[in-house]
Amino acid sequence: MRGQLSKSLMITVLFLGSLMTTLIWYMSVGKHVEPQRPASQKKHAPKPSEICKGCKEIISKVQERYNQTWKKQEDNYLKFRTNLSVKCNGFDKAIITKNNTPVGLKLVYDGEKKRTLQVNKDFFNIFTKENPFSNKKWDTCSVVGNGGILSESSCGKMIDSADFVIRCNLPPLENGYEKDVGIKTSLVTANPSIFTQRYGSLVGRRLPFVESLHKYGNSLLLLPAFSFGINTAVCQRVAYTIEDFKSPIRPVFFNPQYLDSLAQFWRSEGLKERRLSTGLIMASMALELCENVHLYGFWPFSNHPYGFYTLTNHYYDDKPAKTSFHAMPAEFDRLLQLHTEGVLRLHLEDCK
Ligand SMILES: *[C@@H]1O[C@H](CO)[C@@H](O)[C@H](O)[C@H]1NC(C)=O
Ligand SMILES: *[C@@H]1O[C@H](CO)[C@@H](O)[C@H](O)[C@H]1NC(C)=O
Repeated sequence: MRGQLSKSLMITVLFLGSLMTTLIWYMSVGKHVEPQRPASQKKHAPKPSEICKGCKEIISKVQERYNQTWKKQEDNYLKFRTNLSVKCNGFDKAIITKNNTPVGLKLVYDGEKKRTLQVNKDFFNIFTKENPFSNKKWDTCSVVGNGGILSESSCGKMIDSADFVIRCNLPPLENGYEKDVGIKTSLVTANPSIFTQRYGSLVGRRLPFVESLHKYGNSLLLLPAFSFGINTAVCQRVAYTIEDFKSPIRPVFFNPQYLDSLAQFWRSEGLKERRLSTGLIMASMALELCENVHLYGFWPFSNHPYGFYTLTNHYYDDKPAKTSFHAMPAEFDRLLQLHTEGVLRLHLEDCK
């Protein structure tokens, strides 16, 4: 009897074990798969329960401010750009180069002020030689946020028509997304958590990561290597991986001094949050680099501004945002203000 019991126990354990193995294999294989396009959102009038609490009132107020015909106000644009250039000088400082960051210089991490890093030869060697903006200002720039508002927007062509296209956090562009978000990429940022979560911190096989970069062509890959100490080594491995595999993408690093001056700039403009979102950082950079800045996919609410139907959090998934770090609506309020002042153009409508 006891033998029988232990035998069936053993079989159960074996069975569970193989089930676990299958599950683990499935999960690790699944990690490298591009996110699948979410089921298309129906453009229907939502039931009142689907509209987030208070959103209807807020969205109407946004509509009121947004509905006036937009026109670029050259004076306002120039004033704002001058302010940004004087205080942050993103054109020369946003990206670390061999020129602005020599060997021996002490970098202060912008997210951890007590941490510093003295630039050694190894780091210096992976810094880009010259200003990657090559002293050239672009006429039109698209800055693409990843909001669910882009789903079924048909904005791909318009986004791609810009001279310089900035994208955030290695977003998917293929498998049917092109129509809504385009494919052209001049600069793409990456949040280092992607390297740890999706690519095993690049300590094992690195090919899946390299392959995932193909869609960005020879764009700049902008990495926040010196914001938090925990991300420095993995960003260095990203640069080495790209070099070793001869991938055409060009890794560059955010200058922590620029990020710090930009945070101060926005603090003086009334933004109180601890960290700026990547979207706001890229919009600010674009204002120094481009005559005409167009923002797409910036919309912090869970309902569409005109149809009121429910939106996914990103155009490619519905992972909830970490709200503790970004005061998104406050940032959005400032961007909307810049839109009404004719400094930049925010796109909330579909592109037809
Ligand atoms: C803004 O315009 C849209 C259509 O273009 C309209 O449906 C909406 O009622 C307008 N909102 C306000 C507050 O004027
Ligand atoms: C530019 O900066 C000054 C001084 O910090 C400030 O008073 C002014 O409002 C700013 N102008 C714009 C357009 O942001």
